[in-house]
Order: sequence, then structure tokens, then C-alpha cells
Amino acid sequence: MIHSNGWHQYNIWEHSATVRDLYARRCRLEAEEMTCHQQAVTLLKPYVSPGDTLLDVGCGSGYFFHSLRKGMVPVEYWGIDATAVLIDIGQQHLPTFGLPAHHLQPMRIEDLGGKADHVVCINVLSNLDNYHRPLERLLNTAQKTVILRESLASVGDYAYVSDRFLDDGVDLKVHVNTYPVQEVCDFISSYGFRVESIPDQRTGDLPEMVIGYTHHWRFLVAVRQQEAGN
Ligand SMILES: C[S@@+](CC[C@H](N)C(=O)[O-])C[C@H]1O[C@@H](n2cnc3c(N)ncnc32)[C@H](O)[C@@H]1O
Repeated sequence: MIHSNGWHQYNIWEHSATVRDLYARRCRLEAEEMTCHQQAVTLLKPYVSPGDTLLDVGCGSGYFFHSLRKGMVPVEYWGIDATAVLIDIGQQHLPTFGLPAHHLQPMRIEDLGGKADHVVCINVLSNLDNYHRPLERLLNTAQKTVILRESLASVGDYAYVSDRFLDDGVDLKVHVNTYPVQEVCDFISSYGFRVESIPDQRTGDLPEMVIGYTHHWRFLVAVRQQEAGN
């Protein structure tokens, strides 16, 4: 018979002990900081006023919190992620470093409402079926800025492929999409933002293989020019 557990059944992020271990080590500061997290901090910092709120969407276990602390960015950090077991890891480890556990919440982008001053979303939208609906949520949430790091290129490419790095015996597919950068920028602008496309520092403009598939990493920095309408 049918059940309503399909999200968990098909969610690749719930089927990798390797990812859980890596994310726990990042939370405990036992793994190297991600270079893209360092770059996100640099891009964000000029727009932050003390006490601003920041929402990290698809935060994994919330270890971007460490990069913000290290960069001395005076924001109040909140993170959401659709994979509850990854949020559990952050709630277990990050309070030791000063993050209240309730600042990490299991939540899908699709269910997000409310406001935050800054929204950061790193390495998430490229693995969703498309960008319009989730990106609209991020743009409507952000009062000041949205910082994205995704696979973006002059020509888009949409693939739904096997993830061969999951736990033994798990056979699941994931979207690996490259979105057309100008189209995404036009979409962001239409929500009242000025947007700039910036090369990913570590990979330059060179493609990178991740789980065996080509990614074209770029940052988009979107700064709100008009009051949010809702
Ligand atoms: C590649 S990881 C990136 C984690 C983190 N942002 C980083 O930079 O390391 C992608 C994350 O997106 C989350 N995710 C996937 N679909 C989502 C959705 N619909 N809503 C919220 N999070 C989602 C996954 O659970 C996973 O933790």
C-alpha cells in the first residue's frame, strides 16, 4: 500500500554515512573549512549591519556558522535543511560553539515563510528539479541580500543522474543542473534586486567534477533595491 515516506525514501542526503560523518567533523571543526564558505563570507560582509539575521538555506548541519564566526560577521545565524538527520548533527555539536540548537530547523525550502535580512544558499539549487520556485522563496524572504553559489553557465544543462557515492545497496538519482546564468540573473532582478555574477575563487571558470558530473560553480550576489512586497 502507499505511504507518505517518499521524501525520505528518495532523498539522497539521507543515504550517505560518509556525508553524515563529514558534516559532523565540519561542525566539530575537525575538517577543513570549505573555500566557497570563506568566499561567501567575504561577499556577504560588506552588506551586514550588527544584529542582522542570516538564514542559511539547505545548510546541511549548519557549519557555515563557523565561517561567519571566523570572519567576525556580526549576524545572528539561522539554518534550515530538508534532511532532519543532518540538522540533528548540527543541533548536537554547534551549541558547544554558541549556536542555540533551535536556530537549526528541519525544513524544506518549499515550506519556508517569514523574513531574514540575509539569505545564503550554497550548493543546493543545482540539485533540485529547477530553480524558480525555491529561488522565489529565498528572494521573498531576504530583506537585504541573497548570496547563491550554484552551477551556472551561459547555456543551461539539466540532468537526472545516479549518485554512485551513496551507502551500499542504495540506488537513487539526483538532479545535477547547470542553470543559464543570465536567465537566473534576470529572474532575480525581476524581484527587485541588483545582481552580480562572480567567479568561484577556487575553481575559477573551470568546470569541476562532483559525484562524477560536471559543475560550473559561480556566485550570485543579489542586493535588494526595492522594499519586499509581501
Ligand atoms: C550539497 S548539500 C550543501 C550543504 C551546505 N549548504 C554546504 O554548503 O555544504 C545540499 C543540501 O541541500 C539540502 N536540501 C535538498 N533539497 C532541499 C530542499 N528542498 N529544501 C531544503 N534543503 C534541501 C540537502 O538536505 C543537503 O543538506
